[in-house]
Amino acid sequence: MKTYLVTGATSGIGEATALQLAQEGHTVLALGRNEERGRDLERRGEGRINFFPVDLSIPSDINRFFEDTKEQFPTLDGIFNNAGTFGKPVAPERVTDQQKEVFQVNYHAPEQIIQHAVKRLSRGASIVNNSAIVGHVKFPAMLLPYASSKSALLTLTKTYAARFHGKYRFNAICPGPVDTKLSHSLYGGKDKFDLAMKHHLRGEAAQPSEIAEVVCFLLSDKASYINGQTLVVDGGYTLT
Ligand SMILES: NC(=O)c1ccc[n+]([C@@H]2O[C@H](COP(=O)([O-])OP(=O)(O)OC[C@H]3O[C@@H](n4cnc5c(N)ncnc54)[C@H](OP(=O)(O)O)[C@@H]3O)[C@@H](O)[C@H]2O)c1
Repeated sequence: MKTYLVTGATSGIGEATALQLAQEGHTVLALGRNEERGRDLERRGEGRINFFPVDLSIPSDINRFFEDTKEQFPTLDGIFNNAGTFGKPVAPERVTDQQKEVFQVNYHAPEQIIQHAVKRLSRGASIVNNSAIVGHVKFPAMLLPYASSKSALLTLTKTYAARFHGKYRFNAICPGPVDTKLSHSLYGGKDKFDLAMKHHLRGEAAQPSEIAEVVCFLLSDKASYINGQTLVVDGGYTLT
């Protein structure tokens, strides 16, 4: 059984992934800000999920997490860099410094996590970065900081894959719309989101568990020959 680090584990795709990994018998270090949801996740994690409150917009929080866990969890077998934020949708020509937090959480935090983790990764460890179709195959004008941070994450993924020659694997997923709080907030609530999803190729968004299934595969040794790849997981959304 393996030990995995999952960020953004208190909700949506990260929560579904943490729970699936625990069900498969793995130990999960689950990061998030919401303590109540984090403790609840621990309770549902069959004794295998350990919650750590970490705000990824604060680099010293990330340093502290790695320092605090180095003795209890000296080896990591994989990471799901999942946490993300849209920031405030704004026209590209109006982007200000306030949007810098988007880049911090979506790009710099995964980068910092990988820099720390490479000292603890087991041979064959797998890193999966959660990017998006936005910034890869779709470019909504109001989401420039989000899209560019997710695009940068793809470059980070491929650069690290090339750097380590298969000693550790680095892949990215690009989900289409998923039924989570993040996407509800972008559409102005769940009802509006569900209505908009009627125009999805299959008439509805993904459930977080459908994305978790793909992530758990990429994290596992079953995906041992997949490295440096970007996998679009969108139910055909970008075909239309
Ligand atoms: N939903 C979609 O349609 C979609 C599509 C493509 C890609 N994605 C990507 O999927 C990832 C997960 O999003 P989701 O859809 O599952 O949304 P979600 O349910 O809202 O979950 C977002 C997670 O990110 C965490 N997070 C956000 N800012 C953080 C910060 N500063 N520090 C620590 N944790 C932070 C949240 O933790 P707390 O709640 O504890 O703060 C939460 O656990 C994101 O990277 C997103 O870009 C989503």
